Amino acid sequence: KARLAILLSGRGSNMVALVTAAQTGILRELAEVAVVFSNHPDAPGLATAAALACPTASLSSQGRQRAEFDAEVVEILRQYQPDYVVLAGYMRILSPTFVRAFAGRILNIHPADTHLHQGLHAYEWAFENQLAETKITVHLVDEGLDTGPVLAQQTVDLRGATTLAEVERRGLLAEHQLYAKALAELITKERHPA
Ligand code: GAR
Repeated sequence: KARLAILLSGRGSNMVALVTAAQTGILRELAEVAVVFSNHPDAPGLATAAALACPTASLSSQGRQRAEFDAEVVEILRQYQPDYVVLAGYMRILSPTFVRAFAGRILNIHPADTHLHQGLHAYEWAFENQLAETKITVHLVDEGLDTGPVLAQQTVDLRGATTLAEVERRGLLAEHQLYAKALAELITKERHPA
């Protein structure tokens, strides 16, 4: 099975979806969670991961210089021998050192079409611009901000969503389905190249 290192900074709802998929869902035969890591030792998602019987690790990024912090995170993650590093609400821009350490093996989920929106606050952006739909994107991470090759997208209908909370609710539902599915497809493809 492919070993996943899941990285989060906060709530961890995407992590829960991935862990559930690995334990009992579409990733069951394909992947296992090697570690859930956070740059915030007190992130709610870390406690949730522990409750789901996942190994956890953390290192506070507070006040740390990026390259140096990332080098330490790479060392921590390597101990778990991950095949894929899966960013799930990991709210940090990765340094080139980090990206090169796991080149082509880092995935991210972005709650918008990365061709149209990059960075933070994607649901606010969709809501404020009154978009009729938005596209959740799973992509490989390269050295740019949300610029890596797209692996999968899912359109979310936003018509009639009159509050930001409703936009987020619809988007997150799609995120939770899309991430595990995109990962399953990638693992299957990389095992059985066409
Ligand atoms: C998710 O909506 C995720 O797509 C987004 O943060 C949220 C984390 O929620 N990520 C980004 O905006 C990355 N730029 P979660 O902790 O419940 O998975």
